[in-house]
Amino acid sequence: MAAVEPETVTEVRHYTDRLFAFRLTRPQSFRFRSGEFVMLGLEVDGKPLLRAYSVASPSWDETLEFFSIKVPDGPLTSRLQNIQVGDQVLLGKKATGTLVLDALLPGKRLYLLSTGTGIAPFASVIRDPETYERFDQVILTHTCREVAELKYGQDLVESIAEDPLVGEFAAGKLTYYPSVTREPFERKGRITQLMDDGVIYDELGVPPLNPETDRVMICGSMEMLADCKDRCEAAGLTEGSNARPAEYVVEKAFAG
Ligand code: A2P
Repeated sequence: MAAVEPETVTEVRHYTDRLFAFRLTRPQSFRFRSGEFVMLGLEVDGKPLLRAYSVASPSWDETLEFFSIKVPDGPLTSRLQNIQVGDQVLLGKKATGTLVLDALLPGKRLYLLSTGTGIAPFASVIRDPETYERFDQVILTHTCREVAELKYGQDLVESIAEDPLVGEFAAGKLTYYPSVTREPFERKGRITQLMDDGVIYDELGVPPLNPETDRVMICGSMEMLADCKDRCEAAGLTEGSNARPAEYVVEKAFAG
């Protein structure tokens, strides 16, 4: 049995020259938990060229959404960025990953820390009603180099407020906390800096990270993961997994 099957592109949206999102038809048999990733790609020289992609859509959605970087000389994304509606993309059959609610112990407040395309798994998590059943407050942070790169997340958060299914769950619980590092914006700086300086806690009126109440999911570059992990560990949180839920979980935002 093939590990991947072709699916049809139903929508493509370009955000900047570095970012785009697309949707694929969803096989009836494809099941996943919010926050998981799947192998996805194109056939190149007669062989499947696959990369791990977080599913950005919620598990109740009829189509599958993905948010991708465009790397000019990236073996996959240099090609994938040219897909059009009606084209076929190879999709793995099994989703997996650690950015799932099951890998966290119960808590009061859920932080979703993301940079760049690292917001993708959280786009799924914040559209899952179960997230709001498990937590009183959900804080989505998204840091990008440029203002235009925030657009995907801004549209997402807006669409949630209007969504008949999740809107009610998210109301009063979901807080969106964007920041930009290389252009003027109302909030400047890396999330690590905003945590170190206490700015995020002051602005949101919440106490600093606390293992009793706070749970964290982290998704970004390797360096971002390491730096955010440091902050979690310093605050006394321990890393969780599917087998052993704990207080924070991490996953690399994949690219290439
Ligand atoms: P900066 O502009 O200061 O490098 P990238 O596209 O390189 O993955 O970066 C996306 C965003 O993540 C940028 O705003 C970048 O800030 C920020 N960033 C990069 N490295 C880290 C890190 N180690 N910790 C926190 N944020 C980071």
